Amino acid sequence: MKKLLFILAIGAGLLITSCTKEGPIGKTGPAGANGTNGTNGANGKDGTNGINGTNGTNGVDANATCTTCHAKDVVDLVSVQYELSKHSYGETAFSEAGNTGCTPCHCSEAFKYVCANNIPSTFTLNAATGKYVNDYATVPDKAYGDITCSTCHSSLHSTYTVADLQPFTNVAPVAMTMWGGTKTINLAQKDGQSNLCLKCHQPRPFTASAGDGNVLDYAAIAANPTAVFYDTTAGVTTNKLKPGYRTHTHYGTVGAIVAGMGGIEFAGTASYASSAHATQATCQDCHMGAINGKAGGHSFSAAGNFNGCNATGCHSGISSSDVLWTGTRTEIKTLLNTLAGKLQESGRDILNRNPDATTNLWAGLTANNYDGYLNVYDPASNPTGPANNPNGLFQNPSPASSWTPAQKAQNLTYPKLYLTNAQMGAIINFQLCLREFSLGIHNHDYSFGLLTNSIALFP
Ligand code: HEC
Ligand code: HEC
Ligand code: HEC
Ligand code: HEC
Ligand code: HEC
Repeated sequence: MKKLLFILAIGAGLLITSCTKEGPIGKTGPAGANGTNGTNGANGKDGTNGINGTNGTNGVDANATCTTCHAKDVVDLVSVQYELSKHSYGETAFSEAGNTGCTPCHCSEAFKYVCANNIPSTFTLNAATGKYVNDYATVPDKAYGDITCSTCHSSLHSTYTVADLQPFTNVAPVAMTMWGGTKTINLAQKDGQSNLCLKCHQPRPFTASAGDGNVLDYAAIAANPTAVFYDTTAGVTTNKLKPGYRTHTHYGTVGAIVAGMGGIEFAGTASYASSAHATQATCQDCHMGAINGKAGGHSFSAAGNFNGCNATGCHSGISSSDVLWTGTRTEIKTLLNTLAGKLQESGRDILNRNPDATTNLWAGLTANNYDGYLNVYDPASNPTGPANNPNGLFQNPSPASSWTPAQKAQNLTYPKLYLTNAQMGAIINFQLCLREFSLGIHNHDYSFGLLTNSIALFP
């Protein structure tokens, strides 16, 4: 704000310079910026200063439009709300800065770069390594920056009018990085505003890290549930990735779930339809409703704020005790609990439990506090397993050379993990439906379909 005042003062100063012969009026310049510039217009009438008078008029226009945004109830207020947003207080823009693959979704300059240059989310074979590489990345000199107003509002300070608020950095359909760009999601309602959010809130690709590095073929997994996905027995040559603690769909699963895409769609009794939200609500409708408590507006949070649900043309009278809320969430929670119970081997959970709400963003969403990671030993990220993984961990199939002999020995005390396509697909579906966080509010029908048909694979 100090800078703002400074610039306004410079603006007024220019007016004063253009009217040098009117010394005394010049001193009232700063107030002029707030609308009293009309006085400068009158200067035009001073015969010798006709040209200067014209300059004065331009100054009035520019400064007057500043205040359509720079007012207590516009930019000032929105900036205060924004401090409640994890876009603002979250730490990943800082911690991932410099990483060209992570920053397209985590840092402002990188996001603007991939949007402006239409960087594709394809995978390209690197002939030297024989591995596929995801092209969805920024360049090293544009791999930083906190998410701020101009990350989303692409034209701020272009025309200096209120029209600068509306162009968003992306409203175009999003070619999904999880499919190497072969499928596109378009949340077209309200001029594609949701595509702004979706561009970042999309799952990251599951790649064949132990194979050619290309994206996993979801359709092939869904079509062959009984086939082996991972096995270390001699003769198995189909292993595509070695399951580890961090074998996961990334955090940003919401965009795909809202659109009713992105899961392993096993055949089954439930359909993969979408609920009305997929086509009739925008992310903004629910997340930027009138502020209430710590949610709504530019906090971007939907937690406990029903103003968006109850906006004109949508629902009326929804609250946290409404069955549309409680019933949907209880049903999806039960399905998540049931599926986790099916994902067992050697008498132990395949999925990791973590009751600590500071490290598990999804603590409380399932009875056993699963976090979507796998229950596999890792001396750094999963040393002994949370105390309530009662029956212990699985062996890590790729011990790092940096592990101590004691760590390597400990790893060998755990049983090996084998996976069928059914298990791998069910793990991916569990991660998607847990990490969309709303327990089915985003798209009940799609979550219901994925979880129900996954559960049915394990009678
Ligand atoms: C379309 C709305 C809009 C208009 C019109 C507008 N601004 Fe801004 N301005 C913003 C936003 C948004 C920010 C960022 C606020 C924040 O980061 O909290 C900003 C920030 C600023 C800053 C602080 C810059 C910084 O680096 O922190 C200054 C100074 C400023 N504006 C001056 C002006 C002046 C002078 C005008 C008129 C000539 C103007 N603005 C017109 C929206 C607008
Ligand atoms: C530039 C990429 C980007 C865009 C665009 C974006 N987000 Fe985000 N969003 C993120 C990242 C990254 C985080 C997590 C930040 C962190 O933890 O440091 C996040 C966090 C959030 C959170 C909080 C999640 C939590 O765990 O508490 C919500 C809610 C959210 N975004 C909603 C939205 C909505 C709604 C839109 C569109 C209006 C949107 N986002 C647009 C990248 C983006
Ligand atoms: C395709 C977009 C995308 C890419 C690429 C991406 N992320 Fe994220 N990431 C997100 C979004 C969106 C969130 C927040 C989701 C939420 O909270 O619901 C997030 C959340 C996170 C979080 C959790 C932050 C918290 O609030 O606790 C970490 C850590 C993280 N990402 C690290 C990374 C790293 C490291 C990379 C690169 C290897 C990466 N991300 C690449 C979209 C992305
Ligand atoms: C994650 C993307 C995102 C970020 C970051 C963001 N905005 Fe917005 N902003 C939007 C969207 C989307 C809308 C339109 C909301 C709607 O139409 O419902 C909007 C609307 C606005 C409006 C119009 C009136 C209103 O309150 O809805 C103002 C003013 C505004 N933003 C200012 C800001 C300022 C100031 C900042 C930074 C402190 C900021 N925005 C950061 C996405 C963003
Ligand atoms: C029908 C309303 C609705 C729509 C549409 C919607 N959301 Fe949500 N979203 C919610 C609710 C409700 C929650 C759970 C909030 C809670 O309980 O804290 C949520 C949770 C989230 C979270 C996790 C928040 C957190 O605190 O961890 C993110 C991120 C998110 N939504 C992003 C989006 C994005 C991006 C879109 C558009 C692609 C979207 N949402 C569309 C209602 C909606």
